[in-house]
This record gives sequence, structure tokens and C-alpha cells, in this order.
Amino acid sequence: MTAGGPLLELTGVTKVYDPQGAAPAEVLRGITLRVAEGESLAIVGPSGSGKSTLLNIIGTLDEPTDGKVTFEGRELSALGEAELSRFRNEKIGFVFQLHHLLPQCSALENVLVPSLVGPRREGAEQRARRLLERVGLSARFGRRPGELSGGECQRVAVVRALVNRPRLLLADEPTGSLDQAGSDSLGSLLAELNREEGVTLIVVTHAMPLARRMRRVLELMEGVLAEKSTPAIR
Ligand SMILES: Nc1ncnc2c1ncn2[C@@H]1O[C@H](COP(=O)(O)OP(=O)(O)O)[C@@H](O)[C@H]1O
Ligand SMILES: [Mg+2]
Repeated sequence: MTAGGPLLELTGVTKVYDPQGAAPAEVLRGITLRVAEGESLAIVGPSGSGKSTLLNIIGTLDEPTDGKVTFEGRELSALGEAELSRFRNEKIGFVFQLHHLLPQCSALENVLVPSLVGPRREGAEQRARRLLERVGLSARFGRRPGELSGGECQRVAVVRALVNRPRLLLADEPTGSLDQAGSDSLGSLLAELNREEGVTLIVVTHAMPLARRMRRVLELMEGVLAEKSTPAIR
């Protein structure tokens, strides 16, 4: 990374769906964002405002129509397919609203899936076990998703996202399918992992209690991102 530079930087990022079509949809209209290593931030905004689109662009699951995204000082549009897959696998962890765990695999096996791709990772299983213990699942290593609660599955998904020691964890409505108690506990877990593991965190959410656990809250409205000043609860 360039010394002192941000971990992630978006400059003038726009996204137009179906640009040649009858009704092109301009979802992002020039997003500029700098995220420093170790920061935690929430992105809130109405449904359909482009939050998932923005997160997918940051995670290289989608490409901007215009503008620049740099990570550790490298422009992502310059990476080829193979480099992009490696980048995603090594640098980024994803957590989605639905956990997407493999139903036939145990909690521990699910967590190890990302570590099976790419270079052999020493100590992956030890780290997986330690993280599962850390999130309160020490008695659940061998259980399959069908034998776990929704909140437990989502904690397994968080551990899976962290197993390769990513620099950046992206979470898209991670508490969207959880009840209040599950949602609170996942929110505190994410905030704690940000502090303990130093992983940079970007969380998209509708839930203000979750958003307020992050150090910065940004609101996406009509294609533009703005700082939202709300007192943080950590
Ligand atoms: N692949 C796509 N093709 C066309 N339009 C899309 C596509 N994905 C999302 N959109 C549209 O872009 C807008 C923003 O969607 P999204 O990023 O999912 O919003 P949010 O996550 O904030 O609910 C919506 O109007 C949605 O219908
Ligand atoms: Mg969304």
C-alpha cells in the first residue's frame, strides 16, 4: 500500500444500468469515498438507492460505468480476471443477508471453504476453530446449517468471511434475516471484530442500531453519498 494512503478510494464512481436501453437507470451519480485501514463504516439509505450496487463495485463483483476504484493504491480496473479472483479471495470478505452456507457441510467445513482456494494457508484450521470459539460456537463445530439457528448461521458466515484474514469485510444487510436479539448480537460481534482483528468494515444496513455501531455513517440518496451525523454507539 502507498504509505499513508487510504486502503480504499472511490473517485467519481457512477453506475448506469442498461445505458443503451430505452430507460437507462443512473443508480450511482459520482461517488467519492476514502476509507482508511481499520475504519468501520455503515452505508444506509432507502431500498433501491443503490447500496448493494455500491458494495458489489467495491468488492469487484460488478464494475462501475465510470470513475475509479483503488485498493492499497492499485486501480482495480487494471486487474485481469485471474488477478481479480485472487484479489477477492485474499483481500475481501463478504457477508450477505442470507448466509449462503453449504447445507451438507459442517460449520467448521463451511468456514474452511475460502482457505481451499489459492495458496496453501498454514494454520487455516486452527484459525477457523479459534474464530468459531470467539463467536461463541465452540460446541457447534460439527453441526450443519440445518442444525443451527439463523443467528448462529450468520456468525458462521462472518467467520468464513474472515478466515483468509481479509483487509476489508463487506456486509450487505447482514442482520436482515435475524430477529432483534440475533441482530444485536451480530452487530456487537462485527464491531468487536473490527477492533480486535483490525479488519476494515463496510456494512450496508437498514437498521440504525447496527449502523450506529460503526464509526462513520454515510447515507446513499439519489445516487449520492453523504456523511450522516449520528452519535455513535460502540
Ligand atoms: N442488474 C441490474 N440491472 C438493472 N437494474 C438493476 C440491477 N441491479 C439493481 N438494479 C436497480 O438499481 C437500483 C439500485 O439497486 P440496489 O443496488 O440493489 O439497491 P439497494 O441495495 O439500495 O436496495 C434499483 O432500482 C434496482 O432495481
Ligand atoms: Mg440491497
